Amino acid sequence: MTPREIVQQLDKYIVGQFQAKKAVAIALRNRYRRSKLSPADREEITPKNIIMKGPTGVGKTEIARRLAKLVKAPFLKVEATKYTEVGYVGRDVESMIRDLVEVAIRLVKDERYKEVEQRATEIAVERIADILLKTGKDLPDGISKVALKDEIGKHHLDQMPIEISVADVPKPLELGVGGGSEINLGSIFGDIMPKKTKKRTVTVAEAFRIFLSEESEKLIDLDSVEAEAIKRAENDGVIFIDEMDKIAGASSKNGPDVSREGVQRDILPIVEGCTVSTKYGNIKTDYILFIASGAFHVSKVSDLIPELQGRFPVLVQLDSLGVDEFVKILTVPQNAITEQYKKLLSVDNIDLQFTDEGILEIAKVAYEQNNTLEDIGARRLQSIMEHIVADISYDINDDGQRREFVIDKEYVEQNFRTESRNLKKYVL
Ligand SMILES: Nc1ncnc2c1ncn2[C@@H]1O[C@H](COP(=O)(O)OP(=O)(O)OP(=O)(O)O)[C@@H](O)[C@H]1O
Ligand SMILES: [Mg+2]
Repeated sequence: MTPREIVQQLDKYIVGQFQAKKAVAIALRNRYRRSKLSPADREEITPKNIIMKGPTGVGKTEIARRLAKLVKAPFLKVEATKYTEVGYVGRDVESMIRDLVEVAIRLVKDERYKEVEQRATEIAVERIADILLKTGKDLPDGISKVALKDEIGKHHLDQMPIEISVADVPKPLELGVGGGSEINLGSIFGDIMPKKTKKRTVTVAEAFRIFLSEESEKLIDLDSVEAEAIKRAENDGVIFIDEMDKIAGASSKNGPDVSREGVQRDILPIVEGCTVSTKYGNIKTDYILFIASGAFHVSKVSDLIPELQGRFPVLVQLDSLGVDEFVKILTVPQNAITEQYKKLLSVDNIDLQFTDEGILEIAKVAYEQNNTLEDIGARRLQSIMEHIVADISYDINDDGQRREFVIDKEYVEQNFRTESRNLKKYVL
């Protein structure tokens, strides 16, 4: 996708914030550009990491979430506050790289599963047919194997019971070892000890699901999956570090603050480029794209240690939202809040309608409240909407009659403005 196309895709869900969308779109495209260069040039070009800065509730995390769905690259979103400095109890920052590799493994595995799906399906159906022919009841007399397989393939026998043996996997026993690395005893011993199986009676549909995944697993080459996953994570990986501002901050006198700066220092080499060992092999972090985000409301970007600031050369500002944006957020996105309420209430036979003036009034109230109270961005819309439809939501009849409600300007005013001269009453 071209940068413009990426922005267009993001536009479907996020209103405004063009600068931020543009920055992530450029960064993604640069990924692709780099991949077309000679290995020597590729070596030299590292991604330009991004900081997204802006007030709460204006779409920072939402952009990341939508981006993740858009790119078919390994994508991980983490909260900076989850990590502790090396040496302290908790997760160390290197674990984010290990998590990214896990994401890549899943991604590659899914692709490979698709490739072998047809073959795996055939084998799974074959296995079910064999078992049914041996033990199945209620089969038509003298049915041939070919005919039986056909029936299974067409899902005609999905509900038929079947006894299969499944691997009796011992519950994985996880030992959390200090530095965040985890040892899975189950998988260590599980590989040494002979596999136990147990008999279970399930439906044919369930058996098919189990066999399909067993056979798929056998058909793909795990070594090559792991190698490919490492390569993808190294070259295409994107890590979104949310709440970055929470680890910035006028440095520390005591308590947890001590470790905040430590976490920043630990992040340095990872963003700069280093090698992290994972259970699938070593991975270089040089070409992973990092996007950090935070309100930077209390602490400023300049409160991050300078070395870290330097490693995030692109700084984009997200704007606080106004009435126009609110109107769009209420109506435009495919998952817009007004649509959500319509769908929810339609279950109870309520036909909820919004007039344009009604929407505008909601947006105005939201904007007003953000100004007079705390600016919580688009999240304000949710508390207001919830209040507006509260009575409609509560007061329903179970008589199956369709009822229509129109949320117009008067309705919003009545239910909101007049009655709530004292706005404080509806503060979150
Ligand atoms: N520009 C926008 N367009 C559409 N929806 C938005 C926009 N900004 C925020 N929202 C909606 O508001 C909610 C909160 O947004 P989001 O989680 O992105 O906030 P944030 O910027 O990450 O804030 P915080 O700094 O508190 O984490 C989400 O449900 C999102 O859908
Ligand atoms: Mg957020």
